[in-house]
Amino acid sequence: MVSGGSSPGRMFSLLSEEKLDWEKVYIGLVDERWVDSDHPGSNEKSVRDKLLKGPASAAHFLPMKTTDAEPASAVASRAAAYAPHLSPLSCVLLGMGPDGHTASWFPGSIGLEQAMYPKDGAVIAAIDAGNTPVSGDYRHRMTLTADPICNAEAAILLIFGEDKRSALDQALTGDEKLFPVRRAIEGLGRRLSIIWAP
Ligand code: 6PG
Repeated sequence: MVSGGSSPGRMFSLLSEEKLDWEKVYIGLVDERWVDSDHPGSNEKSVRDKLLKGPASAAHFLPMKTTDAEPASAVASRAAAYAPHLSPLSCVLLGMGPDGHTASWFPGSIGLEQAMYPKDGAVIAAIDAGNTPVSGDYRHRMTLTADPICNAEAAILLIFGEDKRSALDQALTGDEKLFPVRRAIEGLGRRLSIIWAP
């Protein structure tokens, strides 16, 4: 399961050239902005353009975006599609925003509690980040919850930039609700590799 945003782009291109048994690989999203898959901000578009090419084009892709007007209407169908691949995930690629979010777990967003501390074993949640700096086109999101992410067999948190380095340092000891990435860091423990570069 891979994150979107700008951080993984170079890694996707390098990974796509690896000679793996790609036909045995299922790739899904950690989260998605609720925009059409041809929108420049679509995480699906980023994966299709940068990762599902060359040898990696043989991999199976599990989109999150549906034709539903909002993510809440698609949680059940996407959870059913993702569930067979989550117990446990082989590997999850996480990013982090300068505010300490990961996935679509934005501090103060609607749906954050269910995403970070899912009830009834929910594996997918809908997020409305309209009351955060993420508002606008990307306010409506779908995200994996902490259950599948924290139970992954392996995880990578890929972070670039000095501003994020200080946010990471704060997140390592801060309140999970203020720095949601800490929920993943604590939950994954030694299964997580944090990779940072300037
Ligand atoms: C998204 C991502 C998100 C991302 C961080 C970092 O949809 O935005 O999944 O969790 O990993 O926001 O984004 P950048 O890599 O663009 O800094």
